[in-house]
Amino acid sequence: MEAIMLAGGFGTRLRPLTYTRAKSLLPILNKPMIVHLIETLPDEVNKVILAVNYRNDQIEKYFKEHDCGKEIIVNDESKPLGTGGAVKFAEKHISERFLVLNSDVICSLNLSDMIKFHIKNQSMSTISLWPVENVSEFGVADVKENGNIVDFVEKPKAEDAPSEFINAGAYCLEPDILDYIDTGRLISMEKEIFPQIIKDTGRFYGFKFEGYWMDIGRITSYIEAHKFLMQKKKIDICKGDNCEIYGILKESCIGNNVYIGKGSKLNSTIVYDNVVINDNVNLTGCVVGENCKIGSFSDLKNSVLGDNEIAEEETILDNKVIWSQPIPKGYPDKQIGNVIEE
Ligand code: GTP
Repeated sequence: MEAIMLAGGFGTRLRPLTYTRAKSLLPILNKPMIVHLIETLPDEVNKVILAVNYRNDQIEKYFKEHDCGKEIIVNDESKPLGTGGAVKFAEKHISERFLVLNSDVICSLNLSDMIKFHIKNQSMSTISLWPVENVSEFGVADVKENGNIVDFVEKPKAEDAPSEFINAGAYCLEPDILDYIDTGRLISMEKEIFPQIIKDTGRFYGFKFEGYWMDIGRITSYIEAHKFLMQKKKIDICKGDNCEIYGILKESCIGNNVYIGKGSKLNSTIVYDNVVINDNVNLTGCVVGENCKIGSFSDLKNSVLGDNEIAEEETILDNKVIWSQPIPKGYPDKQIGNVIEE
């Protein structure tokens, strides 16, 4: 069975980390996000098609150097085709029923169970469903008792919502669905193709699951995912190789070759490889990119340093993004130094 992983987004909400790397390669507990997802694939999936465009060279290089136990095909779109267009572009690699997964989701979905549910219902398209409290921020499924989805309502008021279930970003699809998608055009699977399948076939189902679901779209959810997974593993810190730590870490994850000076305190913070944090630095809710340096007596809260940035001694930051380098050509957002979006 084939699985298409949608990994072509720019990840603008995760800038400046995504100025220098593909979103799907952002580390979670020192392992690329997409590898966590590949590890959840059932044994029947033998081929993984990575639908990429932005920073595809990095993704290609990573999988050349690391064996993840499945055949990996890097399918480069050259320009973003949207979630539907990317699936159509992968058509030549599809031979039978297949999976499509957003590669920025960490969850407890059992894909084998979802496939069984799909087959039992003779569905054409089955999507994973997750319950949320804040329905008004999402497309909400009108799902019947037997799992049949008859409509999606975009961002309804709580009292008008047909259910509490939203699209959780994993699909099991019959190859016929490819006939519904035009070639070479920007198409949204969720907004254009799924409503058409519901209308034409009625064979559209939702698979509810329990446990956890995290969409790693923003810096806050990126940090929360780390904390959640550390709690799940019953560890308080995650540490790479060759680190020298003289300070105190709490609910934090650091990469390889990291130096943390005495008197420094890291709380709910992620630090990438090759970073120097001098003495008496406080970091809370921060992400520190590769090759960064933070001077002594600095105090950073809810802030992000892109790769290769330097915070001088006694830097005080609250809710700031630090990026002093040129924005990569073609990156869709021109702003620099934005406050982190909530
Ligand atoms: P933001 O810019 O922060 O919204 O992030 P994003 O670009 O990743 O967009 P979004 O979170 O909506 O994307 C959901 C999933 O679809 C992610 O795994 C993306 O990598 C993927 N994706 C979005 N657009 C495309 C596309 O045009 N082509 C491909 N191949 N994947 C896409």
